Amino acid sequence: MTDESRKSIHGQWSSRLAFILAATGSAVGLGNIWKFPYITGENGGGAFVLVYLLCVAIIGIPVMMSEVLIGRRGRRSPINTMRMLVAEEGIPRIWVLLGWAGVVAGFLILSYYSVIAGWAVAYVFRAASGAFDGATADGISAMFGDLLGNPESQLGWHTIFMVMTTVVVARGVRSGLEQAVRYLMPALFVLLLVLLGFSMNTGYFSDGLAFLFTFDVSKLSGAAVLTAMGHAFFTLSLGMGAIMVYGSYLPGNASIAKTSVTIAMLDTLVALIAGMAIFPIVFAEGLEPAAGPGLIFHSLPLAFGNMPGGSVFGALFFVLLVFAAWTSAISLIEPAVAWLVENRAVKRRNAAGLVGVITWLLGIATILSFNRWAFEFEFAGETKTSGIFDILDILTSNIMLPLGGLAMAVFAGWMMSKSSVLDELKMGEGAMFRVWYFVVRYLTPVAVGIVFLNLIGVVTF
Ligand code: PFF
Repeated sequence: MTDESRKSIHGQWSSRLAFILAATGSAVGLGNIWKFPYITGENGGGAFVLVYLLCVAIIGIPVMMSEVLIGRRGRRSPINTMRMLVAEEGIPRIWVLLGWAGVVAGFLILSYYSVIAGWAVAYVFRAASGAFDGATADGISAMFGDLLGNPESQLGWHTIFMVMTTVVVARGVRSGLEQAVRYLMPALFVLLLVLLGFSMNTGYFSDGLAFLFTFDVSKLSGAAVLTAMGHAFFTLSLGMGAIMVYGSYLPGNASIAKTSVTIAMLDTLVALIAGMAIFPIVFAEGLEPAAGPGLIFHSLPLAFGNMPGGSVFGALFFVLLVFAAWTSAISLIEPAVAWLVENRAVKRRNAAGLVGVITWLLGIATILSFNRWAFEFEFAGETKTSGIFDILDILTSNIMLPLGGLAMAVFAGWMMSKSSVLDELKMGEGAMFRVWYFVVRYLTPVAVGIVFLNLIGVVTF
């Protein structure tokens, strides 16, 4: 294999830093600021947070390293990377399905992700127009209810977000995206810190901290463990090829271990700060932590509505939430787009357009989940109220991503030859490597396996 054939036809990040920013852009998104607080609220707080942190550290980082190394080894879209490695390493062809499963997961996730990002777009305008000023909890709740009950308006916002996503993916790896994340990620971070400062002054900061960090095992159900593990994969963008395709654009000499640790730490930091900023507001306003997907759309407008300069600051916050979602959305369809460009010789622009339209259409099912098609069902002892949206969320975060991540760990740990893995990781065969190898070969499969066995009732904890 010559070095030339180890180059991606789609180009490459300009540096290791650019990859870190892009992958952090993918990881930091609605998962951190919207989803982490609401699922923490639904699952009782501290114990859930602890399981999530353990999953990120023990499973997430090693799986991320596997995904990046597979991507950089193949230097193609996930489907073709799997094809190539299967041929090169003499691995059963069934593994190519992993690439396909990732493409499907990307479509499914983005279809609902874009609808939620659309809510954030709507809230930019609401905040800027002063709609939150002096608001009461009831007023804000009615405003959110109006949006959920109105499919036409949600469709409009979803369309705007899908167009934004498609346009960036159409422009390719370096132009646009790489430039954008350079400024947007630090800006988001600064704004979160300002919001945190506000929360510290609500008088309820310690209640927020206690909720997030008090470990009470009795609150931990099997379903909560599955949700925490699923969220570790979701928040780090693992298990579907997004990080794999970004890894395929990573310069050959960059350290996979160091970059993965950095990305996971930044992602976790943002989630924890978001939690510490949001829960004190929730308690100060007497809101319900288990309010579900509407949590930040209730709590933050109340905070903005009652702070000086809240309309400017609120609009800015939702703008940045949209940007965080945007840099994640791009990575959700990049695997499919890269594959179309490679295999069908389609222009990137057209490939992005096609993928964008399919996702946009799928998104309509999520929009209708909150109104006309709403139905309730039970999952692992919990009542879910938003039909298709909940099904998509459970199917992707709780099932497809953990299984995909497990498969990637097994692929790097058992299927690829140790020499290729060592060659790609470039970290020698010291203690760090041995720990990683043990985790991907044994610990990840066993841990993910047990959580699933629990779900289907074979083991109980
Ligand atoms: N990590 C993103 C978030 O936390 O919002 C969501 C995501 C992006 C999941 C890309 C999966 C993915 F492949």
